[in-house]
Amino acid sequence: MIISLVNQKGGTGKTTIALNLAYCIAEKGYKTLLIDADPQGSSLQWQAISNNNAFTVVRHPKANFHKNIEKVTGLYKMVVIDAPPGTGSISKSILLCTNLAIVPVGPSPLDIWSSKDIITLMRESRTHNRKLRGKLLISKKIVGTTLGRGIRGALK
Ligand SMILES: Nc1ncnc2c1ncn2[C@@H]1O[C@H](COP(=O)(O)OP(=O)(O)O)[C@@H](O)[C@H]1O
Ligand SMILES: [Mg+2]
Repeated sequence: MIISLVNQKGGTGKTTIALNLAYCIAEKGYKTLLIDADPQGSSLQWQAISNNNAFTVVRHPKANFHKNIEKVTGLYKMVVIDAPPGTGSISKSILLCTNLAIVPVGPSPLDIWSSKDIITLMRESRTHNRKLRGKLLISKKIVGTTLGRGIRGALK
């Protein structure tokens, strides 16, 4: 199972969610691999300063996931990919081998609109990768705000 965090926009929570998700999956007893595909390398930096032994983190900021996925994931059954921001070749390659793509979006219509391109890319990817499913995940919602309350309507 490959779960990827993707969005054309930076700063939406991809890395934060990827790390937390990998930890939760590992806690359930699965051998888990987190692939840092962002050239910025934030997940790997986190690994360097954390005492994480729960899951493995590797760096792979390359656009060859769809060609080499077995080589990259090895024996790991549960894989989380932290994608770079954008809809470039790395994100395209990731979507071609992903089972579940999670798109974190900030809690405002502007944030949702800025995810239009990645949703288009996911639709295109599905013509080649029929197992791909996508979910929008509202991130950084501040409870009790007007924006927070209106977000579900904006998503629809
Ligand atoms: N749920 C959250 N609540 C508050 N701040 C968050 C949350 N998720 C992420 N952040 C903060 O938002 C910033 C961007 O998050 P990050 O995970 O690096 O996003 P991305 O990987 O999409 O660029 C970081 O400063 C991070 O600490
Ligand atoms: Mg990141």
